[in-house]
Amino acid sequence: MSREFLAWSEELSVGIQEIDEQHKVLAGLTNCLFNEAILNKGDPAVIESILNELIQYTIIHFSVEESLFRIFNYPEADAHQMHHSQLKREVFEIKEKFNKGETVDLELMHLLRDWLTKHIKIEDKLYTPFFLSKGLKPHWPKSRSWIGKIWNSMHIK
Ligand SMILES: [Fe+2]
Repeated sequence: MSREFLAWSEELSVGIQEIDEQHKVLAGLTNCLFNEAILNKGDPAVIESILNELIQYTIIHFSVEESLFRIFNYPEADAHQMHHSQLKREVFEIKEKFNKGETVDLELMHLLRDWLTKHIKIEDKLYTPFFLSKGLKPHWPKSRSWIGKIWNSMHIK
């Protein structure tokens, strides 16, 4: 059985393709966790590996955003990073509870979905106009690395 627990919609788009794609990965991992832990009551080892992946990808994704804040000197960086720290703590807490034998239940899944969607809709959407004003493009050729893209946006007008 599988269901789209965190369905992607345009409402969740921040208007920067690369960031949207990373957010879609987070939504995908949330859906995997929901399907495995809630719908299929799956193997704890599988649930644990999804949780680990979700934690790792969350850390990577937040680091990408925070690198952009530093590169472009985003004035709201500190406040945004505090939200990231809080979200990371919450996800680590889910893992700790799981390690102690608690199950990933529907209530936890709702919390996770709410944290992610609220963060994207409120905090993340705030940075888009700023990044675009600094030359970041909403779409990029697929072949370029992030650093190449940023370099080009800053040096080729
Ligand atoms: Fe963020």
